[in-house]
Amino acid sequence: MLFSATSPRAIAGLAVLAGLFQFTRADMFEKSCHDLKRNLAIENATINLVQYVPSASTLMFPENDITCNRSSQAISADICRVALYAKTSPFSGVHLEAWLPRNWTGRFLSTGNGGLSGCKFIDCDPQGTLGFATVGTNNGHNGTSGLAFLNNPNVIEDYSYRSVHVGAAIGKTITNQFYKRNFTKSYYIGCSTGGRQGFQSAQMFPRDFDGIVAGSPTLAFTQLTAWAGWLGLVTGYNTTDPGFISPNLWKTIHQEILKQCDGLDGAIDGIIENPDLCHPNLDSLRCRYQSTYSCLNNEQARRANMVFKPFYYPNGSLIFPRMQPGSELESSSTFYSGVPSPYVKGWLSPAILYNLNWKPETISLADITFAQELNPFGVNTRNGNLSAFNTSGGKLLHYHGLQDYLISSENSARYYNFVRETMSLKSSDIDHFYRYFRISGMGHCRQGPGAWMIGQSTIGNNGLDPGSNVLIAMVEWVEKGLAPTTIKGVKFRGDKVKDGLSLTRKHCRYPYQNKYVGLQPPSNGDGWACTLE
Ligand SMILES: *[C@@H]1O[C@H](CO)[C@@H](O)[C@H](O)[C@H]1NC(C)=O
Ligand SMILES: *[C@@H]1O[C@H](CO)[C@@H](O)[C@H](O)[C@H]1NC(C)=O
Ligand SMILES: *[C@@H]1O[C@H](CO)[C@@H](O)[C@H](O)[C@H]1NC(C)=O
Ligand SMILES: *[C@@H]1O[C@H](CO)[C@@H](O)[C@H](O)[C@H]1NC(C)=O
Ligand SMILES: *[C@@H]1O[C@H](CO)[C@@H](O)[C@H](O)[C@H]1NC(C)=O
Ligand SMILES: *[C@@H]1O[C@H](CO)[C@@H](O)[C@H](O)[C@H]1NC(C)=O
Ligand SMILES: *[C@@H]1O[C@H](CO)[C@@H](O)[C@H](O)[C@H]1NC(C)=O
Ligand SMILES: *[C@@H]1O[C@H](CO)[C@@H](O)[C@H](O)[C@H]1NC(C)=O
Ligand SMILES: *[C@@H]1O[C@H](CO)[C@@H](O)[C@H](O)[C@H]1NC(C)=O
Repeated sequence: MLFSATSPRAIAGLAVLAGLFQFTRADMFEKSCHDLKRNLAIENATINLVQYVPSASTLMFPENDITCNRSSQAISADICRVALYAKTSPFSGVHLEAWLPRNWTGRFLSTGNGGLSGCKFIDCDPQGTLGFATVGTNNGHNGTSGLAFLNNPNVIEDYSYRSVHVGAAIGKTITNQFYKRNFTKSYYIGCSTGGRQGFQSAQMFPRDFDGIVAGSPTLAFTQLTAWAGWLGLVTGYNTTDPGFISPNLWKTIHQEILKQCDGLDGAIDGIIENPDLCHPNLDSLRCRYQSTYSCLNNEQARRANMVFKPFYYPNGSLIFPRMQPGSELESSSTFYSGVPSPYVKGWLSPAILYNLNWKPETISLADITFAQELNPFGVNTRNGNLSAFNTSGGKLLHYHGLQDYLISSENSARYYNFVRETMSLKSSDIDHFYRYFRISGMGHCRQGPGAWMIGQSTIGNNGLDPGSNVLIAMVEWVEKGLAPTTIKGVKFRGDKVKDGLSLTRKHCRYPYQNKYVGLQPPSNGDGWACTLE
């Protein structure tokens, strides 16, 4: 195919030419990459590309679905890049990329996806520079929409559990073949849907990974989407209705929640360390005389209180825990905005109800019960028996932001406790293979007013100290038996590194919670201690 000199393909082409030029200098790494191109054969797969990519180049993805908004990625290490399509069934398959660094440590890493999508293949930095051979897939379909689920259960199966499993198997084969020796340890990292995929691996394929880092997981997935639909009904879709709560009024509510709960951890710093202790009563904001912008009318107070209540079936069984207080500023522009959540429609309509005309505004208990019972291909990811994972030596590091405005963090504690109950273990027993860290002041997988940078992704990376990087902490745990007791997070002013550090905190593992003990200002992690009380 011809291309103009400025097209993305031309730039990718130049990267290849640069690679070929260096190859003439008899570089062994490049030669191996070149050889792989001739020799690589994977059953049921079509190899689309094997390409040497030198560090400091920018990869272009002209074929990437436009909804992914990901047309390029900077590469900071020399890699051999493989792209292929592998069938997962006669009617489905995954696009996969494997990035094999020159500076290989012997470690293998799989990465997960997000939302309903198969957009982000690999979040390369710092993994490439860290010397992981890394694979990621498109999760069985392209783009952010769930339309591919309609009338194709194979695609739902890929999404529920299969894409990561197949991707890891192929990735390990490529890795071993390329380096001509076997990988030593295998790791997984992902957040949100990627977090759920990590738990699915621990539950279903306990030997796929030695170490799993799973953040903000979409566990109990059908109930999670049902709850999101229910929150929409509670807060309402008619923004001119007098019961609707405007974003400005949510600001007032947030201030009131901080007033009631911020100090419970010993410091008034705008961050609630343990939302479990926070049971806000928003009746305190009820208008005394007449409606104004800074008080709630009766209907608004009813709706606001309802958001912080668990969601039950009429028979008293829990569908989903309450939204944790503290996240309302962000939720006011998502779940409480009067606009139906795209995830509710995007999942329930093609994958559960098989009806593209279905509207989230009409969600009913019948829909919710049906979804939970259908639970296609075990997408709910709710097996509490991790015994096989533990027995095969697996380690699981779970984290969740306590200001997550899309997935209540109480869902994470609920799963942790479910594992404890299923396996009849005390927290001290579970500690040797499964640890859950609550990240105060972090939103959904990233950002927020808290010390949210914990090495969870390129954007959350602040160096490679195992005490402050969840992936490196996992490597230490798996390879040296040093389990993390806290995860130190940092926050920079305005999230800009150049503007300097504004906050550090050592996040505790559940059920420990952070208490301010003084001696240092609250912005200094050393002023806090993990306690059970
Ligand atoms: C390749 O596909 C065939 C037919 O679907 C299947 O029987 C076989 O197990 C697949 N092989 C691998 C390695 O997945
Ligand atoms: C899906 O995306 C991959 C690249 O990420 C591309 O090669 C493939 O053609 C896309 N498939 C469709 C059906 O668009
Ligand atoms: C696409 O990505 C760029 C860079 O990450 C971002 O600035 C922009 O807001 C994104 N656009 C959409 C529509 O998400
Ligand atoms: C290779 O990895 C080691 C440690 O794993 C690191 O110290 C070194 O800087 C890396 N070299 C390059 C060129 O990335
Ligand atoms: C790699 O592991 C496989 C088994 O998984 C084994 O058959 C093979 O001999 C190993 N190769 C090397 C080079 O150790
Ligand atoms: C929204 O609420 C306003 C005020 O109560 C009402 O007049 C209007 O009919 C409602 N719109 C819809 C679509 O229900
Ligand atoms: C309550 O109702 C739900 C939905 O019908 C059902 O799945 C659940 O098993 C019921 N729980 C009890 C305790 O009967
Ligand atoms: C958990 O799974 C193991 C097998 O992996 C099984 O032996 C054990 O009985 C299960 N425990 C429970 C409580 O189901
Ligand atoms: C976990 O595995 C270790 C051995 O690796 C074993 O000693 C321990 O009893 C196991 N714990 C559970 C709860 O299965």
